Amino acid sequence: MSDVVLVTGAGGCLGAWCVRHLIEDGYGVVAFDISRDDRRLRELLGADALVSVRFVQGDLTDAEALQKALERHEVSWIIHLAALQVPFCRADPPLGARVNVEGSVRVFEAARAARIRHLAYASSIAVYGPASDYDATMVDDGMPKRPRTVYGMTKVANELTAGVYWHDHGVSSVALRPYTVYGVGRDQGLTSEPSLAMAAVARGADAHVSFGGRMQFQWASDVARQFIAAATTPSDGAKVFDLGGPVVDVLEIASIIERIRPGRRVSVGDARLPFAEAFDDSALRREASTVYETPLEEGVRRSIEHYERLFAM
Ligand SMILES: NC(=O)c1ccc[n+]([C@@H]2O[C@H](COP(=O)([O-])OP(=O)(O)OC[C@H]3O[C@@H](n4cnc5c(N)ncnc54)[C@H](O)[C@@H]3O)[C@@H](O)[C@H]2O)c1
Repeated sequence: MSDVVLVTGAGGCLGAWCVRHLIEDGYGVVAFDISRDDRRLRELLGADALVSVRFVQGDLTDAEALQKALERHEVSWIIHLAALQVPFCRADPPLGARVNVEGSVRVFEAARAARIRHLAYASSIAVYGPASDYDATMVDDGMPKRPRTVYGMTKVANELTAGVYWHDHGVSSVALRPYTVYGVGRDQGLTSEPSLAMAAVARGADAHVSFGGRMQFQWASDVARQFIAAATTPSDGAKVFDLGGPVVDVLEIASIIERIRPGRRVSVGDARLPFAEAFDDSALRREASTVYETPLEEGVRRSIEHYERLFAM
C-alpha cells in the first residue's frame, strides 16, 4: 500500500497542485478543506485522478475533525496549507488568528496525537517587515521579522508553534516561505494578480496588474513539489526556509506574457507590495536534495497554455 498524505487547504491553489503531484507520484491523498469547492482541483487533475482523492470537509479549528481524518485514513504524512491570506486576515483579524494560529496549533496537536512525527507547513515571506526595515535588498532568515500585516503575524506564530512542538513533543517540521506564487489556481490573495493577468490573456483579453516593483516569482507546481519533498523527508528540528526564485520586475512579467501572446496588452500600476524584493534561499539549497525551479518564461507559458485548455473545454 502506498503512503497516505493529508493536505490541509487541499482545495486552494497550492493544495490542489500538491494533490496533483502526490497522485502522479503514487501517494494516497486525503484532501482536507473547509470548502466543498473543488474547482481548482478539477482545473489541475483529470476526472480519473480526482476519483482517487479522499475528500474530508472539515474546519481546522474543529478540535476533532482533523484528528479523526488522520486516524481513519491511516495518514503517514501531512502538508498543512490551509490559511486565510492577507486580505481575509485584514478584513477579519480575529478570524484570521483563529484559522491561521489556532488552526495550526491544532494541526501540530493532531499530528502529535496520531504519532506523526514530522510535517511540512506553509509560512510566508510576510513574516518579514517591509523593504524599508532592511539595509540589504536580499533579506535572509537572520534578519528581524516585524510583520506589518495580521497575516504575517499569524505566520510568525506558526513558526514559533513549530519550535515548541519540536522542543516539547519531538514533532519535527519544515516550513517553506513562498513569495509571489503564480499559475493555474492562483486566483485569490494579495499577489494573485499576475496569475489573473495570464488567465485574462488566455481568454483573449487585455489585463492590468495594480502593483509594480521587483519581487520573486515561484510557479505553483514547483512550490507544491518542494512541499511534498519537505513533508515526506523526515528531519530533526523546526526548520524554516525562504523560497528563492528569479527577482523580476512586474513589468518584465507583463512583457513575458505579451511576448507569449502577441497582440495582448498587460499594464502595470503604481502600487507597491509591503515586502522586500528578494529573500535568500541558500539555506534551502544546502538542505534540500532538489530545489524545483522551472524557468520563469517556461512557467508563464505553461500557465497560459493550461488556462487556454481550460477555457476551450
Ligand atoms: N499563494 C501564495 O503566493 C502564497 C505566498 C506565501 C504563503 N502562502 C501560504 O501557502 C498556503 C497555501 O496558499 P494558497 O495560495 O494555496 O491559498 P488559498 O487561499 O488558495 O487556499 C487556502 C485554502 O484553505 C482553506 N481553508 C481556509 N480556512 C480553512 C479552515 N478553517 N479549515 C480548513 N480549510 C480552510 C480554503 O478553503 C482554501 O481552499 C497558505 O498557508 C498561504 O498562507 C501562499
